[in-house]
Amino acid sequence: MKKTLFISRDAIAQRVAELAREIARDYGQDKPILIGVLNGSVFFFADLVRALDLPCEIDFVRAASYGMSMDSSGCIRLTKEPEIPLEGRRVLLVEDIVDTGQTISLLIETLRHQNPKELKICVLIDKLERRTQEVPIDYYGFRVEEGFLVGYGLDYAEQYRQLPEIFTLEP
Ligand code: PRP
Repeated sequence: MKKTLFISRDAIAQRVAELAREIARDYGQDKPILIGVLNGSVFFFADLVRALDLPCEIDFVRAASYGMSMDSSGCIRLTKEPEIPLEGRRVLLVEDIVDTGQTISLLIETLRHQNPKELKICVLIDKLERRTQEVPIDYYGFRVEEGFLVGYGLDYAEQYRQLPEIFTLEP
């Protein structure tokens, strides 16, 4: 596999800081619940939350969608639900990447059943090439047309997640 640098550590850090400022400004003192989507969002989530100058709570969900290949299996399971009650709260879902949009759509549909006051989406990479579901993205770090990306939480068959930068991966 050929790995090529796509987004540097500095560019990620700068964009995360900008997003954190934007989010802090929008939420003020409303104490949102930030929900990280495991596993991919773990580094983005940790960096974003620590950059936020905002009272907030954190929780996690786990949505398993991809198997061990580059293509979506089209099958998504919610294997961990949030534990903080979402009823009446402002909730911000934090994802590493929206690709087809299936995972985030399922998450929105599922979490809406808990009657949050508001449900918004923050994603590091908004990748457009394979979108099949229209997704209302409120905050995004980088908008990308195409390519298979790894690093900073993004994996290929559970590899490359730990890389501090984002790379494209080609056969
Ligand atoms: C990845 C990523 C998103 C989802 C995006 O998760 O973290 O959750 O795919 O793809 P979609 O828009 O086509 O649904 P994955 O299921 O690979 O699990 P992971 O977070 O553990 O890598």
